[in-house]
Amino acid sequence: MKPIKHIAVTGAAGQIGYSLVFRIANGDMLGHDQPVSLRLLDVPAAQAALRGVEMELQDCAFPLLRDVVCTDDAEQAFAQVDYAILVGAQPRQKGMERRDLLAANADIFVRQGRALNAVASRTVKVLVVGNPANTNALIAMSAAPNLDPSCFSAMMRLDHNRARAMLAKRLGEPVDSLEQVVVWGNHSPTMYADYRFALVRGEPAPLRIQDEQWNREIFIPQVAQRGSAVIEARGKSSAASAASAAVDHMRDWVCGSQGRWVSMSLPSNGDYGIPEGIFFGVPVRCEDGRIERVNGLSIDTFASERLQGAVNELLEERDAIRHLLQS
Ligand code: NAI
Repeated sequence: MKPIKHIAVTGAAGQIGYSLVFRIANGDMLGHDQPVSLRLLDVPAAQAALRGVEMELQDCAFPLLRDVVCTDDAEQAFAQVDYAILVGAQPRQKGMERRDLLAANADIFVRQGRALNAVASRTVKVLVVGNPANTNALIAMSAAPNLDPSCFSAMMRLDHNRARAMLAKRLGEPVDSLEQVVVWGNHSPTMYADYRFALVRGEPAPLRIQDEQWNREIFIPQVAQRGSAVIEARGKSSAASAASAAVDHMRDWVCGSQGRWVSMSLPSNGDYGIPEGIFFGVPVRCEDGRIERVNGLSIDTFASERLQGAVNELLEERDAIRHLLQS
């Protein structure tokens, strides 16, 4: 039997947490032969709800679940963790400006970054889900100077999955037949869902679609606005699909993406003209726990404009919290 892996989930008493922790405990994230220990972190006011989640986890009698710790102390939650999924964040409240939301979350992610820096495994893999996810990841990474930047990522996988599903529907093909879809940029309406390189059953998807108007007027905006459409329909934000995307992101990072491209937000390294110092969604492949960026894709004028829109937004977000970043 493999040694136990320790996984922290923040905001575990929230909506996404309620879908996510059961999937992890069931083995969907790390494999059905990998025993796990869960560290569930939430604010003091949510501790009673968290105990309820713990009771339900016990009641599922998951064979792989060895231990559950519930806490409001980040250092306790992150002690020696192998994986940390940072979901907990301050939601936007009435009358709150975007800048106020950034500041409230910045405070959370500075504290959690410091705690990871102090006590997590030196090879921890961190996924930031809580919004604004890209900038929160930048803040956490910056507050953890003793961890390698490659320990950090932010979630674009929900957008990636939405784009693949929408294309599959348009093509009348199973979603699994589609590869090489990319969602670039920020997890926000500036994201750029891009199927220029996509293959369906090995054939170029753009040749099958041949409808640039659909691409620009339907596909790109609908992927970007899918979250709002779910809220409109459900009266609540997407939680099960976000949790599923977090499972997909971590599973591929840890177990490999089997050669497939997936979209992940990573610290930019200057590729594709994207300035360093922000987290940006890019295409990657994963193998043996490592992430390999897909480089050298052509960027035409339209793509360049879309990428620049996301860069501008992320630079603005970074400037709003720049004072919190360690140089
Ligand atoms: P929720 O409001 O149901 O749950 C959030 C939980 O975080 C609550 O239990 C709250 O008490 C907890 N929390 C707040 N501050 C905390 C702190 N300092 N430490 C630990 N826990 C803390 O929200 P939901 O629906 O679960 O969403 C969570 C976040 O994920 C939101 O920021 C949401 O915008 C984001 N999200 C991101 C997506 C992505 O693709 N990157 C997709 C969907 C949601």
